[in-house]
Amino acid sequence: MHERWLDERHHEYYYKLAKRMNYRSRASFKIMQIDDRFNIFKEGDRVVDLGAAPGGWLQVAKERVGEKGFVIGVDLRPIKPLPGITTITGDITDDATMKRLLELFHGQANVILSDMAPNIGGHYSTDHARSINLCMYAVDVCDRILKKGGKLVIKVFYGDMFNDLRKVLEERFASVRVHSPDASRPTSSEVYVICKGFLAEKKVPLVVPKPEDKKKEFTVKGNFS
Ligand SMILES: C[S@@+](CC[C@H](N)C(=O)[O-])C[C@H]1O[C@@H](n2cnc3c(N)ncnc32)[C@H](O)[C@@H]1O
Repeated sequence: MHERWLDERHHEYYYKLAKRMNYRSRASFKIMQIDDRFNIFKEGDRVVDLGAAPGGWLQVAKERVGEKGFVIGVDLRPIKPLPGITTITGDITDDATMKRLLELFHGQANVILSDMAPNIGGHYSTDHARSINLCMYAVDVCDRILKKGGKLVIKVFYGDMFNDLRKVLEERFASVRVHSPDASRPTSSEVYVICKGFLAEKKVPLVVPKPEDKKKEFTVKGNFS
């Protein structure tokens, strides 16, 4: 009971703060706190944000990369226009969305963000498997467009397949750290993995998450020019 009360107070605090500061979501504070601690954004960076609706992370990313930076967001749900930010409505597990991203983004990214979350069905291991599956798609995006030395911030619902994901990330990045920002609900099972120093040297076959979440392979080829 006490835990639930604390959780609700925490939620309300960040909700009100977001409203007062004109951010579209409480989640804005998560990426702010992550950036303050891990130095994710630099002025002029090119950023891809996966699972970007309603746009809280996009707002923070744009503020931090400035006028010269480029920020693009992808989500299943439409994102109301934000000044200076490009958005795509689509499912990142679909070829058509990946193709559109490659077309609009042109070239390489300094930072990839993924706050993607599956629809929570209430069955923990299924929600966890779906979250891992979405993470694998974010890793696919890194393999296609993340610059050598680039960064990835990715959300995952913690569970027994977490170590498979961690291994995939450690094969690709010089540094991989797991973090839970203060703005995450205390009772949440979400964690953020902060990956730096993209190696960009090998195409490691992706671990196919078990069991029922079948991974579709992309047929669209990356364009690094
Ligand atoms: C927690 S919300 C993101 C909040 C966002 N970071 C913000 O600050 O406003 C998770 C989002 O992931 C999106 N999502 C889930 N699966 C997706 C997929 N396959 N492709 C694109 N977006 C997806 C959902 O539609 C949802 O809007």
